[in-house]
This record gives sequence, C-alpha cells and structure tokens, in this order.
Amino acid sequence: MSAEKLAELEHSYLMGTFKRLPITLASGHGAVAVDSEGREYLDLVGGLAVNVLGHAHPAVAQAVAEQAQRLIHASNLYYTEPQVQLAKRLVELAFPSRVFFCNSGAEANECAIKLARKWGSLNRGGAHEIIGAEGAFHGRTLATVTAGGTAKYKEPFAPLPEGFRHVPYGDLQALKRMTSQRTAAVLLEPILGESGVVVPPAGFLKQVREWCDEQNLLLILDEVQTGLGRTGTWFAHQHEGITPDVMTLAKGLGGGVPIGACLAAPRADVLEAGDHGSTFGGNPLACAAGLAVLKTIEEEGLVEQSLELGELLQSELAGLAGVSEVRGRGLMQAVVFTEPVARDLQLKSLKHGVIVNATDDHTLRLVPPLVITADQIEQAVGRLGAAQSEPSE
Ligand SMILES: Cc1ncc(COP(=O)(O)O)c(C=O)c1O
Repeated sequence: MSAEKLAELEHSYLMGTFKRLPITLASGHGAVAVDSEGREYLDLVGGLAVNVLGHAHPAVAQAVAEQAQRLIHASNLYYTEPQVQLAKRLVELAFPSRVFFCNSGAEANECAIKLARKWGSLNRGGAHEIIGAEGAFHGRTLATVTAGGTAKYKEPFAPLPEGFRHVPYGDLQALKRMTSQRTAAVLLEPILGESGVVVPPAGFLKQVREWCDEQNLLLILDEVQTGLGRTGTWFAHQHEGITPDVMTLAKGLGGGVPIGACLAAPRADVLEAGDHGSTFGGNPLACAAGLAVLKTIEEEGLVEQSLELGELLQSELAGLAGVSEVRGRGLMQAVVFTEPVARDLQLKSLKHGVIVNATDDHTLRLVPPLVITADQIEQAVGRLGAAQSEPSE
C-alpha cells in the first residue's frame, strides 16, 4: 500500500489523537528500524524508550513464541508461573516489595494512586492528596493526567479528580510548603522524561526521601521511563542510594509487549483482595517477555553499557551545531538547541536515516535501545549533523 493511501485510511479509521511522522515502520533488527520501502534508520527513540533490547531481539521473540504455543492468557483467577517468576525477579532487582501487574505506565500509576489513597486513609487520618511536579508525565487516564503537570493534557477533560497538587520540579522548599495534613504521598519521576529529560538538582531525591520519612508520607517513584537500565542502573533511584515506598514500571519491561508493574514496599503494601484488578495484567505472554528482557539485560551487561554509551552519546551530541545544553543520564539524553530547530530537525533526520524525538521546539530526546553500539551512536549523531546542514523545506 502506498504511503499516501495508508495515511488516508489512517485518517478515516483512527481517531486523530496522534500526529505521526511521515514514515511507515515495518520491521527492524537491534537499533535499526526498517520502513515499508526497505530504508534503514538508526533508531534513537526505540518506541519511546520501550524497545530496550532493540527490534526483533531473538530472546524476546523466542520467549513470546514459546509461551504463545503453551498459554497466552489465563486471567488472574488462577496461578500462572511466568507472573510469579517475573515478580520475584523484579523484587530481587529492586527492593523488598510485592508487585501488581497491569498493562501500561498509566495503569501502574493508577495502582500507585489508589494504593496511596488507601494508605492515607489507614495511616494518616484520611489524607489523600498527592503532590507531584509541574511538567511531570504519568499517563493519560483521568487520574494520571491530573497527577501529571501539563495543563493542556488535562484542561479539556474537566472536571478532574480532586486531590492532586503540583510544585516546580526539583524545588524541595515548595514541596515542603505544599505538604499538609491532607498529603498522603509524593509522586515523582527521578528524571522528567516527556518534558525533555530534566535531571533534578543533585541530592533532591534524597532530600525528598528524608522529608517523606519525617512527615510520614509515601514516596512514589514513577520509573516507567527511567527504569530497567535506562539511566545506567537498574532503576534510576539507585543512583541516589534511596529506596521508594512504591515504584511504577512499564515501557521497557516487556521489550515491546505491553506490561506495567507497581511495586510496593511492606509499609505501602495495603491493597487486598478485591481492591484492585486487571483482566490482562501479568498474563503469561507479557510476563514471559518480561522474564526474557530481564535475563537478557543481565546477560548482555546492558545496565553498565547504558552508562558508558550514555557518556559517548552525550559527548557526540555536544559536538552538534547550535547546542546550548546536553543533559541526561545513561541512554536517556536530551540535546537542547539555542534556536527553535528541534521539530524541523526531527523531520529532516528521517531523510538522513536517523530517528529522534522532539519534545518541544528546542529539544530532542534520545532514548535508544540499550543494545545500540558505540559505532551506531557515532554514525547516528553524524547523520544528525548532516541533517542540520540541510536547508529546511
Ligand atoms: C514517566 C512516565 N510515566 C508514565 C507514562 C505512561 O505510560 P503509558 O503510555 O504506558 O501509559 C509515561 C509514558 O511516556 C512516562 O514516560
């Protein structure tokens, strides 16, 4: 089917919620994505930080194929082994906790929000408010979009659920001032993702942890984007030597197969039978994929590699023209340009065989597969440089 025909059909049959870039992806291998005409792209977006093992990794493909031949889905009425195994492995990698499985980042955060409200009613005299950050992104359900800090994502959907407060990201004093008898929890991304990879001031997360301990609040960390080796540790909070009470995961966990998870430490583990649920959550197919992802990240040393390659990516990006800042950790980086060229560059880069993501007019976000090689990073940034010197259409 021609690109024009496909775009026309998409417009007719799909809601207009996405502004798509003009390529049709058909396959891929590792950090290379291939379009419907066979053109190859170095993929620095990796399905929005999802394809941690790149495209078509044999370990995921095999795990999914084998599981699909045995049992794809069973519901949570019964025990299934992959679900229990995946929970066990996640807890071993993270912190003493128990897991609720769902299907997306938004759902993982919904679980955390419900859990915080129940915890507040049991432990803090009915406190139910959650303090989040301006610019934060936690998903698109009504509660998670309200918990997020971007007005345009929520305003059309008023009235919004009550009980969400926001302070500037990284501002400890503002967080302290916002805390009241009504506060049950603080919800933060360790690094803002959708807002262009914003790293908080050094020591901020640790200070928030101390504040939560002092005030008897839950600390919920949304590691949907930062988790699973992305920043050079299994989970970004491990850089800070702290442990959250609740952590949410999704994106990379299934290597592309939809799965989300909410981990609660014993202090926060208040959900009981009947409190929460999911038909698909933690089904054998998704959990088999998750197990393959964790095993492969470990076997291929991708967590350590993410840190090393992140430094390379950072220094390569700094060599591009007109750069005002490169920021991030591991393979979660953003390059900020002095001029508003990011969206144009995102488009021009496609012609040069590289996929990047503009988070605003000035900023490109790079969250490539963790399996990307040093060579591919150098090539990809070289192509970005070539795209920069091309005149705009
Ligand atoms: C930090 C963070 N939390 C939550 C989400 C929502 O995840 P999902 O789109 O899987 O619902 C995202 C998605 O970009 C995210 O980056």
